[in-house]
Amino acid sequence: MIELKCQKKEILEDQIKILSSKDYQICIAILNSEVLAFEDVCSHDGESFDGGKIENGCIVCPRHMAKFDMKTGKAICMPAVEDIRTFPVRVIGEEIIVVIEE
Ligand code: FES
Repeated sequence: MIELKCQKKEILEDQIKILSSKDYQICIAILNSEVLAFEDVCSHDGESFDGGKIENGCIVCPRHMAKFDMKTGKAICMPAVEDIRTFPVRVIGEEIIVVIEE
């Protein structure tokens, strides 16, 4: 199990924050006060979501504009057809902890 951590104040509204470990790159976002975590790998072509916009609870891939539900990881529109992985998050005070089960 791997844990990635950051502080709530590091996450800006309507933006993702990317956390990295040796093997994983994860996006964190806050949606309606809920902290969400999903893999930073677009299932269409493996691109990072860095620079992507958040729209209606979805992350929009900056490369070819596929959308994924940030809560469920579900692919919402083409060109992506496969979902992305999401991760459980614990919030303790101001600290956000993403738990990755390997
Ligand atoms: S790499 Fe994300 S839509 Fe193509």
